Amino acid sequence: MANLTIGGIDCTVLAAASGTPLLVYDEAKIEEQFAAAINNFKSDMFETEVVYASKAFSCKAIFKIAQQMGACLDVVSGGEMYCAEASGFDMKNIYFHGNNKSEEELRQALETGCGHIVLDNRMECEKLVSLADQMGKSIEVLLRVNPGIEAHTHEYIQTSGSDSKFGLSIKEEEAIRNIVKTAMDSKYVDFKGFHCHIGSQITETEGFEKAVEIMVAFVRKMNDRYGIASTDLSIGGGFGIRYTDADKPIPLGEMVQILARTCERIMAEQDVKLNKLLIEPGRSIVGEAGYALYKVGYSKDTETKHFLFVDGGMSDNIRPALYQAEYSCDIATRLGEAKDKLYCVAGKNCESGDILVREASLPQTACEGDLLVMYAAGAYGYSMASNYNRAGRPEVVFVKDGKARRVLRRETYEDQLRLEADEQII
Ligand code: LLP
Repeated sequence: MANLTIGGIDCTVLAAASGTPLLVYDEAKIEEQFAAAINNFKSDMFETEVVYASKAFSCKAIFKIAQQMGACLDVVSGGEMYCAEASGFDMKNIYFHGNNKSEEELRQALETGCGHIVLDNRMECEKLVSLADQMGKSIEVLLRVNPGIEAHTHEYIQTSGSDSKFGLSIKEEEAIRNIVKTAMDSKYVDFKGFHCHIGSQITETEGFEKAVEIMVAFVRKMNDRYGIASTDLSIGGGFGIRYTDADKPIPLGEMVQILARTCERIMAEQDVKLNKLLIEPGRSIVGEAGYALYKVGYSKDTETKHFLFVDGGMSDNIRPALYQAEYSCDIATRLGEAKDKLYCVAGKNCESGDILVREASLPQTACEGDLLVMYAAGAYGYSMASNYNRAGRPEVVFVKDGKARRVLRRETYEDQLRLEADEQII
């Protein structure tokens, strides 16, 4: 019987120091993933940029690592932008996304020197142009379009139209032209090119390759037909990770290398020149580096199930309940023991759907006080955590070389009460 160690530290030591539920990131793994993306996404034909999609997990500490590793940042709200600024992130390396950015958020971007906005629609473009002119602040923009590719894990489909709330269908050429012209006519807004994002948890290259082909052809067409010159092209994120044995993602480094080669080939074939190609990995940077540690509480047998209850749940990871997402887990304090019993690992939130792992083979000796680890819990867990049942968001620690540091402290009852008010407003 052995305990799980993360970054050289025994999980029971981490749990004793920080309590549970606890989200532990292996910092070396985060750095490895950044390096895999940055070092392999290279070309002799164009510059490349890796933009970390911070919606997967954001806090000052991860932003500092991203900056040190040489990545840019994708933010989707004033809040993410504010946290990036507070972390000391170089604002000119930020890409601000979103389908309904408010006027306040656009002002915030212009005021703080945010380098790039990924425009989503006509109204936003008009608002940005007028604000930038008013404020006399410059900003670069990309425009999000939908290439009509939807990819999920290893399959992709080519869709005819686009009902997405994001961006414009690539078929709406006139509308796209008008938006780009509005940007190009502005003294302060600098149009750089197009952006697309085809989906998430994609484990094969085909969907991306198809998207690159369509996007490069589109760049050429917009230039030939309307004189719209692009220098940059972003092909978004969505690189898959391994949650369970059923997931067999192409390693990130290999994946991005293939995409760079694909883009070079298609640019040569279509005689298109671009200065810069961008990708926006989120999940693949932080997902597998994250370990969620829970304490096992009671267990209960029903006619059909053996429940094992843990001290967290959908309030710290809503993905199983929301997407039927699957995770693998272990009793972290009983590694090496035979996994001879099938459990249903349930959380403590007040909802029947609060199941973290539907079917988990674990040692039958698992008991109250053990620690349970859910692997690959680093993406879209904490960032989608809620205040349901006032459970309090978990503590987050980064571990490296046998050392651990707290980067987000546990949400206390007082933290929750800080928003309480009793103020007459009207
Ligand atoms: N770029 C854009 C424009 C995106 O919309 C996204 C994700 C990314 C990049 C990063 O994708 P990633 O590499 O992390 O797959 N909550 C869901 C995922 C939502 C993804 C939204 N957009 C989940 O937990 O699976």
